Amino acid sequence: MKTSFVLATAVGLASAFPGMAGINMKEEGMKMLKERHDAEQQEKRQLGDVLDGVGDLVGGLLDDVKGLLGSVASAVDPDNKRPEPGYEFQAPKKGDSRGPCPALNTLANHGYLPRDGYVSFDQILEATARGFNMGADLATVLGVFTTLTDANITEQSWYLGSSPEHLGGLNRHDTVEADISPNREDYYLGCGDNHHLSSRLFKQNVALAAQNPSKEFDFETMGNQFAMNADFSLKNNPFIYYFPFPSIVSVVAYNFYPQFFSNGTFGAGGVANYESISSILGAKLNKKTGEFQYVPERFPDNWYRRATPYGAVQALTEGFTGIYPYNPVPMPIPQIGTDNFSPQTLLCDIYNGINSITPLALGGALEQTGDTISWAVQKLIDVGLDATTLGCPKNSISPNFKLYPNKKQKGGPLRLPRSQYRWTGSNKYNRVYFTEAPTQPMCKHVSKP
Ligand code: HEM
Ligand SMILES: *[C@@H]1O[C@H](CO)[C@@H](O)[C@H](O)[C@H]1NC(C)=O
Ligand SMILES: *[C@@H]1O[C@H](CO)[C@@H](O)[C@H](O)[C@H]1NC(C)=O
Repeated sequence: MKTSFVLATAVGLASAFPGMAGINMKEEGMKMLKERHDAEQQEKRQLGDVLDGVGDLVGGLLDDVKGLLGSVASAVDPDNKRPEPGYEFQAPKKGDSRGPCPALNTLANHGYLPRDGYVSFDQILEATARGFNMGADLATVLGVFTTLTDANITEQSWYLGSSPEHLGGLNRHDTVEADISPNREDYYLGCGDNHHLSSRLFKQNVALAAQNPSKEFDFETMGNQFAMNADFSLKNNPFIYYFPFPSIVSVVAYNFYPQFFSNGTFGAGGVANYESISSILGAKLNKKTGEFQYVPERFPDNWYRRATPYGAVQALTEGFTGIYPYNPVPMPIPQIGTDNFSPQTLLCDIYNGINSITPLALGGALEQTGDTISWAVQKLIDVGLDATTLGCPKNSISPNFKLYPNKKQKGGPLRLPRSQYRWTGSNKYNRVYFTEAPTQPMCKHVSKP
């Protein structure tokens, strides 16, 4: 029911894009956030029940997984079968860079992106569309921020994990990579390991899917996963740094499970089933130990990508109406909780926030950032995300609002202690990570890389 509301709204919004005039989730979206807030106590109790249930269910992990098997899409378009001939799976070789994004790792393992994991902005745009049907505006927003914060700006290229010197790449914390991820631990709680699949988190995710009548990794399952992960991080992570851009990414990553990893188009006959999700995530159940081993990500056999592009407006709308209300973690986005909150104001924030990420650019590149900011703004304009098209109100950003406030605070993106250094390298596969929840920012409970 929640899902159908979200989809109906989102489809309406998406088809109105790029005009966007009058688009506002003020009415329905805000009402929903408020109802959610009012129902918080009630919700907490329900979440408590869910948690208790999960405790039991994890014990019966094998049964859970069995209960999730066998659902297939009721409608798929043969043209959308992936991988296409010539894009066969190959496990990454030593030295190939892989990191926190399961989708980009999958694309590299199938040769849609360079197999060594050093990728350019243009390659990302093409590969995410071809492999998963990500809309150009959404891929541009992600790619622009990544280029500015995690990339070699001269080459407009970055590592999917980290560079050989552990510098930048998608593993870099709090630039695009964020806390409260669906199936990765927080940077500090994981002792710098924010990029390997966490066995205990995926066990929780499987248990939530198993007790959902749909048996799918749909919005309800992923919303509950978000609620539980957010509770955990708020309780245990003293360095939680939930600031606008990366936090927006971490919220919408939850909708990416149903919307991108489904077999076929989610909501139009597609299913977010265990077969698809576990394969693209690289989660392989060890039936003896009951833990998930992290193996190289791959497209499942007989898998069909979504048939229509999934773009920025729909992603933001669904993230902030379908996932975030399950546990509205405070975020310094000034419009949250006001009538001005909408996907449009978020996009305006993102657009206007480009300037405030300048100090986050990777070392050595500062002299180029003036040019690079112009490059970034032009990329956003190219896909219709400019202030005029968006109709950004001049006062959409409060005078004190910066996209990365307190970036030098302990735990912020410019103040990462070195103790985690050895855990920040690119992915190592065929191991199990995090059988237990890391409840303190310490390294001794994390096995050595
Ligand atoms: C367009 C360029 C992209 C960039 C730069 C990018 C980057 C990232 C980064 C930095 C993370 C870590 C976020 C976190 O800490 O929560 C991430 C996670 C994720 N990304 Fe991507 N991504 C891109 C495209 C995609 C696409 C096309 C998909 C889906 C088809 C996708 C699906 C996901 C999911 C589901 C996660 C969460 C993983 C988890 O913790 O379970 N991404 N991505
Ligand atoms: C996807 O759905 C199609 C059509 O029902 C089915 O043949 C195929 O086995 C499914 N694949 C996966 C990975 O679920
Ligand atoms: C970035 O690329 C340029 C041009 O290829 C190269 O000269 C420079 O060393 C690279 N910077 C880093 C930090 O790798």
